[in-house]
Amino acid sequence: PLVKELFGLSELEEAVRLKFGLRKVVIVAGDSDESDDVKREIGRAGSRVLAQSMEPGDIVAVMGGTTMARMAAHLKVSAPMKDNWFVPARGGLGESVDYQANTIASELAKRTGARYRMLHVPDHLSEDAYQSIMQEPNVREVVDMIRSARIVVHGIGDAATMARRRKLSQETIDELIRDGALAEAFGYYFDREGRVVHRMVTAGLRLEDIEAAGTVIGLAGGRSKGEAIASVMRFGHDDVLVTDEAAAEEALRRA
Ligand code: BG6
Repeated sequence: PLVKELFGLSELEEAVRLKFGLRKVVIVAGDSDESDDVKREIGRAGSRVLAQSMEPGDIVAVMGGTTMARMAAHLKVSAPMKDNWFVPARGGLGESVDYQANTIASELAKRTGARYRMLHVPDHLSEDAYQSIMQEPNVREVVDMIRSARIVVHGIGDAATMARRRKLSQETIDELIRDGALAEAFGYYFDREGRVVHRMVTAGLRLEDIEAAGTVIGLAGGRSKGEAIASVMRFGHDDVLVTDEAAAEEALRRA
């Protein structure tokens, strides 16, 4: 409440932008932990940012999650984007189908008249399975598109919540906690300083692809995610953050 009195939302946006060295920050009023309407507003604001960022020919790689699903439900464009592609950033992550990256990529393509490809590969692969699956021309083609995406759009989660949602083994969860994991994004886990503490062999987007993408857009809100947002912003490869007031206040406090 104090922060709210001192700063209007645009001052808060500017404070977050400067703190984490971002290109753009959009903050909606409220706290998504307390109201689903706020999460919907993050989705709506995120869809506007994405529409403004897309240029003809762009490949957009999207992650899954409930916030991303809200974004997909709102995207509107003035003319069909026939030269654009939506691809899932990663394979299946054991999420329910509504919130999987594949579903979100196809929904976005339907809403915009763009094209899409799917990646029907589990996300956690052994080295052997990875090597052989990448020999499949269909898989290879989609993976190459994913890795050359110019725009990446993703959610951010709290590490423990996401580890449970992804049904990681207790052993892996204990290891993550021991390594200081606070946040999860793109299937990777980050500590307070934004260092990656857990990575795995994946057919999807790798860290180097995220670093190479022209525009990386993060969407996440709710006070409970403030610390996770701060740690992913410290990782330092996001360009745009769309969040809510409560998460923004908390992220600044943790930074
Ligand atoms: C997904 C990302 O987009 O959103 C995850 O793949 C992230 O990395 C998750 O943790 C957060 O999901 P939600 O449902 O809280 O928006």
